[in-house]
Amino acid sequence: MITVIGAGKVGSAAAFDILRYKISDVVLIDTNEKAAQGEALDMMQAAPAIEFDGKIRGTSDFKEMAGSELVIVTAGLGRRPDMTRFDLMNTNAQIVKTIVKQVVKYAPHCKLMIVTNPVDIMTFISYKETGFPRTRLFGMGNILDSMRFRTYIANELGVSREDTRGLVIGEHGDSMVPLFEYASVSGIPATSLLTEEQMDKIYHATVTSGADVIQLKGSTVYAPGMVIAIMADAILTGRNRVMSVSTCLCGEYGTSEVSIGVPVVLGKKGVEKIIELELSNKTKERFDKSVAVVKEAIAALKD
Ligand code: LAC
Repeated sequence: MITVIGAGKVGSAAAFDILRYKISDVVLIDTNEKAAQGEALDMMQAAPAIEFDGKIRGTSDFKEMAGSELVIVTAGLGRRPDMTRFDLMNTNAQIVKTIVKQVVKYAPHCKLMIVTNPVDIMTFISYKETGFPRTRLFGMGNILDSMRFRTYIANELGVSREDTRGLVIGEHGDSMVPLFEYASVSGIPATSLLTEEQMDKIYHATVTSGADVIQLKGSTVYAPGMVIAIMADAILTGRNRVMSVSTCLCGEYGTSEVSIGVPVVLGKKGVEKIIELELSNKTKERFDKSVAVVKEAIAALKD
């Protein structure tokens, strides 16, 4: 079973995608019990169309998460068009700390996925708050940026997004690092297909991609919802997918005491393995800067 905490737009989209892809039964928890129950009832009414016979229930009772293999935390304030993810930090830190205490109490053996922004900082404080091993605690950030990066490369080249591969590492935020040196189209290096100008355009479009959607419609919904579902699938089915996930580093990439987006093998245990990439000097410099940005934010957190 999967518990999604937060029945807002992203949490509800994620819950429905988990049902649509028949990944697991879902418990949807929100302090607004009617909202959680209404979302669950609405999804249940779609069940025959998606041939889903599993369970989805909405509640405000944290006890209902007991026995969950995966708990996904989406609760917290979303940013307005004029805000960065960091602007949410102190308010959402209090919300996340309160929630993860309940996770430790009712689902102490679960894998814990943090979505609440700024996700790298929220993942790190959850790591400290829960005492979970870092294999079982991670954040959904750069995997979403990587999907956007792939989309923009494919669109620029006029090729299938399915054949386009790419990774983003670093902060799930303005200092993120799209990796052109590891991007490809059916194995063909993207750098041999794109001009410098096209790469610059894609780089910046990827960095602002979340904000671009928020500017237009107020919040991102479908992309984060779907990405959460594919991460859940990788974990519950043990598919060992390689994805860029916010992970607590202990010496990898030359740093520690931070959670940040790096490529990992995501499977039954959660983060099965952290993959350390060879990075060009320019990319390593950008990544180190991104680490510094997240570390400064962690240091600035109010208790
Ligand atoms: C986004 C949010 C989930 O990038 O941070 O859409």
